[in-house]
Amino acid sequence: MSNVVIIGTQWGDEGKGKIVDWLSEKAHLVVRFQGGHNAGHTLVVDKKIFKLSLLPSGIVRKNTIVLIGNGVVIDPFHLKKEIDELKKQNIKISPKNLIISDSAFLILPIHQVIDQLRENKKNTEKIGTTGRGIGPSYEDKVGRRGIRICDVFDKDNLFLKLSELYGFHNIWLRAMGEKNINPKEISEKLWDLGQILKPYVQPSWLLIDKYKKNSSNILFEGAQGTFLDVDHGTYPFVTSSNTIASQAGIGAGLGPTDIDYTLGITKAYTTRVGSGPFPTEDKGDNGISLGKKGNEFGTVTGRQRRCGWFDSVLVKQAVSLSSINGIALTKLDVLDGFKEIKICTGYSLDGNIINYLPSSEKQQKNLIPIYETIKGWEGSIVGIKSINELPKSAIIYIRKIEELVGCPVILVSTSPERSDTIYIKDPFSSN
Ligand code: IMP
Repeated sequence: MSNVVIIGTQWGDEGKGKIVDWLSEKAHLVVRFQGGHNAGHTLVVDKKIFKLSLLPSGIVRKNTIVLIGNGVVIDPFHLKKEIDELKKQNIKISPKNLIISDSAFLILPIHQVIDQLRENKKNTEKIGTTGRGIGPSYEDKVGRRGIRICDVFDKDNLFLKLSELYGFHNIWLRAMGEKNINPKEISEKLWDLGQILKPYVQPSWLLIDKYKKNSSNILFEGAQGTFLDVDHGTYPFVTSSNTIASQAGIGAGLGPTDIDYTLGITKAYTTRVGSGPFPTEDKGDNGISLGKKGNEFGTVTGRQRRCGWFDSVLVKQAVSLSSINGIALTKLDVLDGFKEIKICTGYSLDGNIINYLPSSEKQQKNLIPIYETIKGWEGSIVGIKSINELPKSAIIYIRKIEELVGCPVILVSTSPERSDTIYIKDPFSSN
């Protein structure tokens, strides 16, 4: 038995979906433990494209059970839509292979209204949220007025809870010159939808406990990335959940000693969507080229991602924050054709050299990256499946990354296709 956590080591969009899908072949259970439908995973399986936001990527595997843990915020209407769309693509989804935690909090339409209004009315720099209500839902959770999925099955209580919640938010909506929202309609819709979702719902810790006792392999699938973590990221330009590995325990219901291996997913360059500091951002030709070749457009919002060179300072910090055991290096093929490739090895800040990301927003914005340049490679590495077949410069690049971030690269992805992966070590057989 082995439990593996997968997390993003940058600002999300590292290509986690493909790696989770690939590893889920060995997993009996795949678990999402934070975030919501702000995440976007594109899976390419036998040239068929699957787009997932809320459902764990293991859902496209025939014999894998997937769990949406208590740490996830669920828009139940979106969930239903995503299930229906996958079913249309001939993916079988039933309470036999999809389980939803009974204590996961809901994202309600009012959360989306608030998320979007706040962004539109903000005078200072916008966060650039996905507008899906993630932040407001998590706020209600810690404000102890949130609605959990288990609340949906008690009709009278649901209406009472919603009335309290909507009453709270209507004060702010009125102050913003907006209309009050009445919870009656949503209460009825939620009740109806609850009846459809009910068979899928059970305590997530209990299910995990069962799998632990059966010596199963469990894969914990993180969303977003380390520097979008609400505690450890580029605050306030972050999401509203913890995205680092420790959250797997909290957001699913198990302790830290049950985690055997943490795999950090790392893109061979850096991207970020939305606002906020990005020391290695390249607004020139190289950044444009990375964006075009890497097809760097958000799966959820379609927004163009900001692009730049690999930042080893960030990834080294992510390795420490999540005790990462191994790195899966993705999109290495996007660097095909670059004559020179740069790697950020440190920052200059007010005349001093530092090798970590400072917490202060102002300092983060003033960082000047220090680069080391290595030679690019000729030809294409798309589809290569063995490390020995890679050009020498690509191997040098990988070794340099390992040296700088202090962690071995154990997987290399050379195209979006499931099978185009160089496999060096299996995280599930790490003991
Ligand atoms: P929110 O999670 O919608 O509140 O957005 C907060 C920030 O996180 C914004 O900059 C988003 O662009 C970013 N973000 C949220 N989810 C993802 C993701 O899955 N990939 C990359 N960025 C994300």
